[in-house]
Amino acid sequence: MSKQTEKPLQPIFCRVGAKTLMRFQILKYIPNHMIYVEPFIGGGAVFWNKPSAEASVINDLDKQLINDYNLIKSAPTDISKYRSQDKLNTLQKRRDFITKNHTTKPDKLIDAILRRCSGFSSKYIKKGKENQIYQVRGNPLKKIKNLQRYKDKLKTTIIKNQDYKKIIKDYDTYNTFFYLDPPYEESDKGFYDDNIIDYEEMSNILKKIKGKFALSINGSSYIKKTFKDFKIIKLELKTNAKVFIGSKKREELLIMNY
Ligand SMILES: C[S@@+](CC[C@H](N)C(=O)[O-])C[C@H]1O[C@@H](n2cnc3c(N)ncnc32)[C@H](O)[C@@H]1O
Repeated sequence: MSKQTEKPLQPIFCRVGAKTLMRFQILKYIPNHMIYVEPFIGGGAVFWNKPSAEASVINDLDKQLINDYNLIKSAPTDISKYRSQDKLNTLQKRRDFITKNHTTKPDKLIDAILRRCSGFSSKYIKKGKENQIYQVRGNPLKKIKNLQRYKDKLKTTIIKNQDYKKIIKDYDTYNTFFYLDPPYEESDKGFYDDNIIDYEEMSNILKKIKGKFALSINGSSYIKKTFKDFKIIKLELKTNAKVFIGSKKREELLIMNY
């Protein structure tokens, strides 16, 4: 894979389970490919930081998240159209802002960033739950300053809102590379509306694909057994999320068919 030369790009939307701290470890294992497909995009820490493929597909079952990615495509890049930082520098101002019904694309995008990055553990703040704004961390305008870079990445990217199985079926070719980062067995429960993954079914699907794949997953004995027919490597765990399962430190695996 060609080397990443640009400055790292933080995910524009925060997401529990984001691979931000592990993205460079994972990038090293991505093979050359023409088509990049990420069926569980979440915050897209790997996607935003890999060199662009000729064509990419990003997908998530979360409809609102996908609407927000589409908003990036159509939002104006002129910074002066976005709110100034001082207007959103307290918890109360942020709560008031996201409680309003926004009509312009710049305001809708700032609203999306706040809802996705100001809740506890990056849990999305749903409509009516605006008092869950928990921190004044991160200035949304900092992300807006990079909007052109996010938009450039999305220029050759198809954005889908389907179950991952349909995405694999529709975009599998000999030139496709899939990076899969599904919800983990136990650790992500309660953070997504849709997180029931049948890993045995996933393993069977991946055995039959034409393309290459790398799968990020926790290293339980069940997972190791389920994916035993593939190459499995252990990564160095770097995360802000849960590190222990019971008293045992969580293992982070990368499972590949190449
Ligand atoms: C662990 S997160 C991905 C994190 C991402 N790699 C990042 O860096 O932020 C898993 C994502 O899968 C999505 N998801 C859950 N079940 C799905 C399914 N059956 N098909 C597609 N996406 C699904 C969730 O909405 C969530 O955004």
